[in-house]
This record gives sequence, C-alpha cells and structure tokens, in this order.
Amino acid sequence: MQDQILSNLSEEKVVQISEARNEPQWLLDYRLEAYHKFRDAPIEKNALFTRYADFLRGVDLSDVWPVTSPQKLLAAEKDITILQKDGAIARINLPEGLIGKIVIVEIGDAVSQYPDLIRPYFATTANGTGDKFSHLSDAFFSSGLFVNIPNGIEIKDTLRRMIYQELSRIGAFEKTIISMGEASRLSLLTQFRSGAPSTNEIAVLGSSTEIFLESNAKISYSEMQLLGSNVIAFLNKRIIGGADSFGELSSGYLGGRVTRSVTEMTLRGPRSHLEDLEIVVGSGEERFELGTIITHEGVHTKGIVDLKAVMRDRSSMTLKGMNKIEEQARDSDTYLGGHAILFGDGARANVIPGLEINTRQVKAKHSAAVAQIDPDQIFYITSRGVDEISAIQLIVAGFLEPIVSRFQSEDLQEELREVIRMKWTGESFLNSQNAEPIVVKQDIMTFEKVAEVSDLPEGKLLGVDVGTKHLLLSNIGGTIYATGGLCTHEVTDLARGFLGGGTVTCPLHLSEFDLKTGEPLNPPATDPLKIYQVKVEGNQVFVALGDVEES
Ligand code: FES
Repeated sequence: MQDQILSNLSEEKVVQISEARNEPQWLLDYRLEAYHKFRDAPIEKNALFTRYADFLRGVDLSDVWPVTSPQKLLAAEKDITILQKDGAIARINLPEGLIGKIVIVEIGDAVSQYPDLIRPYFATTANGTGDKFSHLSDAFFSSGLFVNIPNGIEIKDTLRRMIYQELSRIGAFEKTIISMGEASRLSLLTQFRSGAPSTNEIAVLGSSTEIFLESNAKISYSEMQLLGSNVIAFLNKRIIGGADSFGELSSGYLGGRVTRSVTEMTLRGPRSHLEDLEIVVGSGEERFELGTIITHEGVHTKGIVDLKAVMRDRSSMTLKGMNKIEEQARDSDTYLGGHAILFGDGARANVIPGLEINTRQVKAKHSAAVAQIDPDQIFYITSRGVDEISAIQLIVAGFLEPIVSRFQSEDLQEELREVIRMKWTGESFLNSQNAEPIVVKQDIMTFEKVAEVSDLPEGKLLGVDVGTKHLLLSNIGGTIYATGGLCTHEVTDLARGFLGGGTVTCPLHLSEFDLKTGEPLNPPATDPLKIYQVKVEGNQVFVALGDVEES
C-alpha cells in the first residue's frame, strides 16, 4: 500500500509544483522536508493503535496524480466567501466591510505578499506531532489559504468556504494557516463536496489546516465532509491555544469512500479551552478513520473530544483518541468521549481511548460505548403510531442532537440536521440543490502589471490607466494598495490629492477615503472607492481587474 500511495507522489513532483508556483527556496525546502517525512512515516505512529491502521485496504491509488499547476477558476456562487475547486483557489470574495481589516489570501499569494508574516508559521507547522498524511498535504499542496485576523478584530458573521472536488484520478492537496491575533474572533465553515461520481475512478483530497490562537482569541472552525463514494479524504487539523483562548473544532463526516482525519489540539497557554466535536454518519461501504490528540501544556486548561457516530450497512468507523496532560499542566481538565450506534450486522465502530496523565491535580475522564440500536426503543416509538423508518430517524436524530446543538455555528447545525435526515432516507446530498455541480467560469481576473515597485516609494500616490480603468496605487508602510482612481463625489483624479496615514484626501472638496477599505470618511463623498487585489512579484506590481466572462 505504501508503494501505491507513493507511486505518483515523487520528489520530482514536489519540485515541479514548487517551480510552477514560483516559490522561494525556503518553501521548496519545507515541501521537500515534508515529503521525506511523509515517505518515511508509518501510517500509524502510536504503537497502541497499529492493529487498527489498515484503513486503506483494497484501495488502489496508483492512478492518482497530484495537481501540479492548477488553473485559477472563478465560480459564480453567491453565499460562498471562499471557493476552492480541484486543487485551485476559485474565488475569495470577502464581505466589503472586511477588506483591508483582515487578510484572507491564497497561500501562494501570501508567500509573495506577506513573506515575513507567514514564514514563521511554516517553521512552526513543521513541528507538529507528524501524522503521515499531514506531511502529504504539506508536500504537495497546490492551493490553500492564509488567514490573519489582527488583534481585537471580531468577525460576527460566519465565513463560508467550499472545497469542491470534481475531477477523478487527481490528488488535490491544500494547506491552510489561520492566525488569530489577541482578542480576535472568527467563525469559518468549510464544506468538502464533490460531484456525484460518474465513474469508479478514485480522487484524493488532502487538507492540512493549522490554527494559531493568541491570548483571548476565539475561533469556531467547522468542517462538513459531504464527499462522493469515489473520494478518499485525508483531513488534518492542528490548533494551538494561547492564554485564555477558546477554540471549537466541529466536524460532520457524512460521505466519501475513506475519510482519514487526525485532529491535534495543543493547550499551550494557561486557561486555554479547546473542544473537538465530531459527528459521523456512515452508510454503504464508507470507512472513517479518525484520530484525536489533545496535549495539555498550560495550567488550568480544558480539552474536550466528543464524538457520536451512527453506522449502517457495511460502513465502519474507528476513533483513536489520546489525551495527554504534561507534568506542568496542573488543574487541567480533559475529556474523551466516543459513542456509536450500529444498524445491522455489517456495520462496525471502534472507539479506542487513551489517557496519559503526568501530574496529579487534574480531572481526566473518558467514556466510550458502541451498541446496536435498541429494538425496545423502536418498539416503544412505533407503538405510538409512528412508522418504523420514522422511528429510526427519530432515534438517530435524538442520539446525535446533543453534539449537533453544541456546534457554535447555527448554519452548520441546520445543514447537518438536513444532511443527516437525507442520509438516513437514502436521498443523495450529492444531487441536492446545494450540491449542484458548480458552474465554473474561466477566471479572466488575471493580474495585470500596472507599475514597478520602484515607481511607488513609501508615502507616494500613483495614478495609472489600465484599459478603460483609472486606478490609484499607494504605498502605505511598505504595502501597496490599489483603489479606483476617481473620486466618487465628482470625477476628480485622486492621484492629485493628499496622502496621509492610510487615507487620500480629494483635492476638490476634501473628502477623505480609507485606502485599505475604500470607505469615505467624511462628506461630501458617500460611496466607497472600488478596491483591487494587488500582487507583488519581484519589482513588479500586478492588480486583479476582476472582470468575468463565460468561457
Ligand atoms: S470631487 Fe472629491 S470630494 Fe468632491
């Protein structure tokens, strides 16, 4: 199996991906190190769990090719903030009020635009506990996100991301880094979806997400896996909590051929609190291989893993959990729960909890149970006039609800309830309204060269004409911004205005505009300036002009 996984995932491919993305040497080195770790690591590192490590049995990955140089795509779906498709970023559409306040960019763009900001996170991510498949995504990622929420910024609405897999015989890997500043807030919901498989050809989707919480930061990070029966998913998450931080990771695993997910939570700062809530609903031949690792390093920390699974047909689920309290982490509280109900003789569930406690003053609990559905319960409900299928649905919903209702995102709660219902009635969520194959348009939002960095010394405004557009470029503290170049009050060239502290003042009636958000700060102008995405490569400044045409 090891050889099959590796057959198309070679060192040469790693170099090819890095070259195609025009990456700096340090990032190529990072990828190569990850590749070597992937190649050398066993499928299961913990000796306690090795007899449960054969989750890829019967799966042939020899015909799966990693995405090397994906085309950029743009999809026209309204309520998705971020769309990734077949290993490419299709769109990032931030709500207007967030532009300029936070950073959410394609990870490759982050490497060129914010190298000093992102590089330390790469150095840290290389030090994870080292699940084999997190190294796989780290070595071969062809897309992903960098999210940076500065200190004190609270984002109230849930941002939605969809990672969509349409093609088969490809391995699409993504890497996401989320850094949360002090007292910042973010809720991000990621859906993994795929089209209804038309063939039995395998596709592999790999995702490695790393979340860093500074003190008092709070994140709700949710994932819903709704993949088709031809997709094998390797989903790795890692979160590190600073002092007084709170992180909730919630996951619904509802499809896919094989889902391997490992979640690592490190409670580093005192009083940090991290939770991992998971729901699994398996049917057919689906296999779920789940691992959780909690490490308490700080005092008074609280870590919770709570999973509920419902398995039917010949589906199977294994949860391997390890909660560890380090010597210095006194007064910590750790919990690992895994409960499953089975329908039919072919369904399987294993919950294997592990606790490693290295200090005395702590609370540590685990709870695990796997049982067939209780026929008395069905009898009791049907005796009230409810048919048997509805009775089973009620039991399933009631069993899962204590976890579903704890998910911070109400959007996710609602969607989960609906998908659980559909899964149980046998309706395909792959063909549901929400999962229509995404209509993809060719992105002609290509970046156009507009200036040289040397034209824009710090504190300078520059007006440029690109096609029919007049843009205003500015250099604020070493970062280049692009906005519409004409005042929105009357048509006046803002390049002739006055730059000061991140704003430009119109030379005619003195309205001031924020150059990062485009917002007017005083009358008479009331409409904001349009904001354009900027990319800097070497000495060249590129701007995405944002027009879209059907391909
Ligand atoms: S033209 Fe700019 S404020 Fe009137």
